[in-house]
Amino acid sequence: MQFKQLSGLTVLLGVVYIVEVVLAQACRPLPSLDGGSAPSIGPLLVSVIFVDFPDFPAQNSTEELYNTMIDAPDLYKTMSYGKLDLQMQPQLEGFYRMPNLSSNYNYARGLTTEDHVRYINDALSAVGKAVSFEGVNVLYVVPPRGAKEISFSPTAMVPVTAADGTVIGNTVTFGQDMWDRWGFKTVNHETGHTMGLPDLYPYVNGTTTQWVGGFDMMGLISAQSPDYFAVLKWQLGWIDDSQVDCVENSGITTHKISPIEVETGSKKLIMVPIDSTQAILAEVRSTLGIDEGACGTGVLIYQILPEVGSGNGPIRVFDSKPGSGGCQIPTGNSTGGELSDAPYQVGSKFTSQLGVSITILEQEGEDYIVEVQICALEFFG
Ligand SMILES: *[C@@H]1O[C@H](CO)[C@@H](O)[C@H](O)[C@H]1NC(C)=O
Ligand SMILES: *[C@@H]1O[C@H](CO)[C@@H](O)[C@H](O)[C@H]1NC(C)=O
Ligand SMILES: *[C@@H]1O[C@H](CO)[C@@H](O)[C@H](O)[C@H]1NC(C)=O
Ligand SMILES: *[C@@H]1O[C@H](CO)[C@@H](O)[C@H](O)[C@H]1NC(C)=O
Ligand SMILES: [Zn+2]
Repeated sequence: MQFKQLSGLTVLLGVVYIVEVVLAQACRPLPSLDGGSAPSIGPLLVSVIFVDFPDFPAQNSTEELYNTMIDAPDLYKTMSYGKLDLQMQPQLEGFYRMPNLSSNYNYARGLTTEDHVRYINDALSAVGKAVSFEGVNVLYVVPPRGAKEISFSPTAMVPVTAADGTVIGNTVTFGQDMWDRWGFKTVNHETGHTMGLPDLYPYVNGTTTQWVGGFDMMGLISAQSPDYFAVLKWQLGWIDDSQVDCVENSGITTHKISPIEVETGSKKLIMVPIDSTQAILAEVRSTLGIDEGACGTGVLIYQILPEVGSGNGPIRVFDSKPGSGGCQIPTGNSTGGELSDAPYQVGSKFTSQLGVSITILEQEGEDYIVEVQICALEFFG
């Protein structure tokens, strides 16, 4: 009797569990693809250390170099609707001298994890016990400006141990590209990795903007519309489940969605799950928030491929105007190419062979009214 009751309960719990798993899997953000483990809500504590080399002593002050980075926290405040508080603790007292020549770290594209960790550990040894790293989530290592061997800014998701015993899970080592090319948004791109975001440009072949154009600085740091995709903001906890319309059943539904750049409005994302390997999504891009310089606005429709890794195209934008050549931002060329004008406008319709169509019905202020049609036959046929 006891046994029977127990097994009844077990069966019941089993059913509830299965139902929960199915619902939870239908619509969900991308999994963390990069292994980054830094917090994306609340304080994110970063220790910033400055290093130089026997073959390249620093020529600038630490303050001058740090100046390039100081706008990163404000950018995150806007992007996260005030949820992420990036707290950089710059160790401005001076440069710590690395034990080796800048040319001895094999520091170039293709840098191995082993060489990268050797660089980071050398920086930590150079600091020694001079700095307390207690409570630090992420380490930034900043080289002298002009040390050309230290060319780019990779992130290592490898735990390292500081002299005071603190284990730091994620480290960004900055390179000349921050000063020469990308500016402070390099900090936001790389710190995105420490929170688990993938690279959205191709690691191999193709062009930088082929999958996401000028949307999302994880695809192009100088993007015309650099804010993170809504599906990534959801992953980071900046958008919650209630702000995502999950459309699973066949039929026609109507949705109102608001620009992702600002907190106002209620729904931020429509998601149509196809199966565990793909989903179709829609969000609104405007010139609000950090996308003030954008030339491509409207309803941005894209696909996510959760099983595709960083640098292999886990997010791919659908182009509403193929062959247009894209749009131009007033201040330069680095807009995101062909896909920079990808968003759909009122009156246009997206149709997928997967049985999903999305029609842009109306614009109300900055919000869009969108109709989603799912054709059941396509799913089971
Ligand atoms: C570094 O110093 C050089 C030479 O004094 C100067 O031209 C340059 O603007 C400085 N760089 C930064 C980032 O402050
Ligand atoms: C400097 O790097 C070289 C080559 O990677 C290595 O053999 C050497 O041991 C390093 N020297 C120091 C002082 O770390
Ligand atoms: C890159 O292009 C080369 C030459 O076309 C091809 O052999 C290779 O498979 C491509 N690699 C990837 C990852 O697509
Ligand atoms: C725009 O492109 C032209 C021609 O390729 C180039 O000369 C110019 O420097 C670019 N401007 C910017 C701001 O990138
Ligand atoms: Zn990256």
